[in-house]
Amino acid sequence: MNATLQTILSRHGDRDGALLPVLHEIQDALGYVPAEAVPLIAKALNLARAEVHGVLTYYRHFRQTPPGRHVVRICRAEACQSVGADALAAHAEKRLGCGFDETTPDGLVTLEAVYCLGQCAVGPALLIDETAVHAAVGPDRFDALIDALEPRK
Ligand code: FES
Repeated sequence: MNATLQTILSRHGDRDGALLPVLHEIQDALGYVPAEAVPLIAKALNLARAEVHGVLTYYRHFRQTPPGRHVVRICRAEACQSVGADALAAHAEKRLGCGFDETTPDGLVTLEAVYCLGQCAVGPALLIDETAVHAAVGPDRFDALIDALEPRK
């Protein structure tokens, strides 16, 4: 973790506005922003730890614990809500046995909300692992998508 962190921090120095890009890069590299990273980020960017912690906890995009092997993001924005996203979200929580921003007990899936995936005309929409957008997802399709997830190593 430290080598990755140092590489990222060395790219940014202590220039103004570096905190958000640094947090994004760390999460992209590690899947989350570990608590141990906060003092290192603060020192490198010449910020107070509280400031780093405040930004980290303000944006729900940033995870503070490692995600599951797959991340499923269900769109909770208005257009998807109007065509059943709330029911899909309730089904997802029941099927996975975890709530939003939580991970299934077997570590397979982290469930998260997202606010628009550009599929507003064909909702409800969801995104799997940042790459696979699925539209018009009802409970049966959700179950099929989850059944198809490989337990990655
Ligand atoms: S509102 Fe869900 S994809 Fe746009």
